[in-house]
Amino acid sequence: MINIAIDGPAGSGKSTLAKNVAHKFNILYLDTGAMYRAIALSMKNNNIDVENEKSVIEQLNKINLEIKYINSVQHVLLDGRDVTKDIRANDISMLASTVSKIMLVRQKLVEMQREIAAKNDCVLDGRDIGTYVLPNAALKIFLIATPEIRAQRRKKELTENGINVEYEVLLNEIKARDLQDSSRDFAPLKQADDAVVIDTSNNTIEETFKKAVKLITKLF
Ligand code: DC
Repeated sequence: MINIAIDGPAGSGKSTLAKNVAHKFNILYLDTGAMYRAIALSMKNNNIDVENEKSVIEQLNKINLEIKYINSVQHVLLDGRDVTKDIRANDISMLASTVSKIMLVRQKLVEMQREIAAKNDCVLDGRDIGTYVLPNAALKIFLIATPEIRAQRRKKELTENGINVEYEVLLNEIKARDLQDSSRDFAPLKQADDAVVIDTSNNTIEETFKKAVKLITKLF
């Protein structure tokens, strides 16, 4: 199976690129952040303090998480309920980052990710795909962009969904999440040694896509 890893910090353009790649090469797209978000949503819905590892693990053991594809679009099912939209709420981002520090949370999700990757040609996006989940991926891309640009993108995305959050708040959240994701003990956000770095700060979506297509075409 051909597996492509796209990693990078929040707002670097991973999901946009991964979606475009999946469409062009007719392969599956697995958004691994959505899985951490679903775990975070379950904690929120059950009033679990995400900083309390013991309580998180207790709840984790009760969760039934499923990934389904409907017309090639990934859907996340939490205990049988489709939460694909709910996990996009802004407060879920930081909660997801916090639960993702816990080793047992990561183990459960990484196992599912590896299983999907073993059965499908796919592009996965996340933080640790190239370094930990699939160290033998056929291609690893690491996207970067300045925090300011990433906060602007997030602002635009939220506005389009009718959600109003101040730019300064988003910028601070992005910086805090970068720090938490890159300083955790298990599989932190980190560029793999053999990853190709693309700085998307001043690139259009098409420019980044073209660069990736050049690299991916060689794989097929
Ligand atoms: O990509 P995202 O913003 O949807 O991810 C939400 C959080 O989930 C992110 O801040 C850290 C965690 N995450 C992770 O630890 N490893 C991944 N492969 C993907 C996401």
